[in-house]
Amino acid sequence: MEKIVIEGQVPLKGKVRCEGAKNAALPIMAATMLCEEPCILSGVPPLKDVESMSRVLCSLGLDVTMEDGTISVRQRGPLGLEPPYEAVRAMRASFLVLGPLLCRLGAARIPLPGGCDIGQRPVDLHLKGLQAMGASIELKGGYVEAKARRLAGATIYLDFPSVGATENLMMAASQAAGETVIENAAQEPEVVDLANFLNAIGANIRGAGTSRVRITGRRGFGGCEYTIIPDRLEAATYLLAGISTGGSIRVDNVIPEHLTAFLAKIQEAGAEVSTGLRYVTASMEGRPNPVNVKTLPYPGFPTDLQAPVMSFLTTARGTSMIIEGVFERRFAHVEELNRMGAKIRAEGSHAVVEGVEELTGASVEAPDLRAGAALVLAGLQARGRTEVAGVSHIKRGYYQLVEKLKGVGARIELVQSEENP
Ligand code: UD1
Repeated sequence: MEKIVIEGQVPLKGKVRCEGAKNAALPIMAATMLCEEPCILSGVPPLKDVESMSRVLCSLGLDVTMEDGTISVRQRGPLGLEPPYEAVRAMRASFLVLGPLLCRLGAARIPLPGGCDIGQRPVDLHLKGLQAMGASIELKGGYVEAKARRLAGATIYLDFPSVGATENLMMAASQAAGETVIENAAQEPEVVDLANFLNAIGANIRGAGTSRVRITGRRGFGGCEYTIIPDRLEAATYLLAGISTGGSIRVDNVIPEHLTAFLAKIQEAGAEVSTGLRYVTASMEGRPNPVNVKTLPYPGFPTDLQAPVMSFLTTARGTSMIIEGVFERRFAHVEELNRMGAKIRAEGSHAVVEGVEELTGASVEAPDLRAGAALVLAGLQARGRTEVAGVSHIKRGYYQLVEKLKGVGARIELVQSEENP
């Protein structure tokens, strides 16, 4: 078993370069199933989740090769209609092949998804949208069985602006007959990136990035060369690492507008922030001011940064309130942060973070990806030694986290734990 071992309280200084966004790469990889010609995707982060999506695509009849952040995808033969159970259980994003499969084959059989344990994560909005487009859907033995001779355009209202549902429906609608309108669509930059990719291979999608997306169905998509947007979540994590250690970090390969809500909050907490074309720098001296944060769909504060920002606020000069507005259960990091001396009370969707003078190192375990990032951030600002287990969660979303933090001065190592070799 691997552990990340950190000797904390070293102010981090220097530059970190971000990878392409995992959450943009995964849906775009799923969308390559719609192409009849090869696709080349650049800026793809070499992460475990990307490998899992490659395996899903290979199992469905595509050839996927990956080298130096570039993925080439081409159809090998006839497409299969059922991705392997283990892959879909391991990663929720593999459910995104449903829309493309329905377009290409008129049928799909997909296990109900798993992924990080952060509360109930149903797929009802994906399925309701597809039904509105004429698909017949049955749930049988843990599988979704979907059929549609040809999907037909429809007006779909999402009860919640789900990122995954918006993406699945955009892909499905891209080859449906007629026009589809998705109302209350998710507006995340990753949704826009998928729409841009779809338009590049031949789709007709307007309004991505607003709450109303219009898709006019077309058939016969080609291929393209496409570069994935930078990872705003990775960027924010390194900026937090800098300011929570009283240091100064410049993050390169980031689109600052994607971080508007996050940057506003860290400025409110006392960080000095400056932005330029594709970079952001942040620095801070002393403890942060307490701030209140509510996570919301984009352009609100991202739920994926809730745990990292909570870690930062544990040493604020006062009490902060954090409200989780996207997921039902996403406070698994609270108990671990409290083991490091934080004073956090969480109830339902609220957490009250009473700032303490400093955290102290401890052995903790990452319960999920972003909570894992939060514990590494806590270790960086804590006095003494912190050991973070559960590294496989962290590796799902951060490429070379340890190396990148070392590069800005952190005393951090990835070690093989003896307890469970
Ligand atoms: C994506 C991101 C994830 C991020 C999340 C919210 C990827 C690969 N993952 O996940 O990192 O935390 O957006 O920004 O891009 N919901 C339903 N029914 C549905 C679908 C969703 O009730 O059919 C609910 C979920 O339970 C959750 C909320 O909607 O409470 C948001 O989920 P959604 O936006 O769909 O997240 P994902 O696409 O799974």
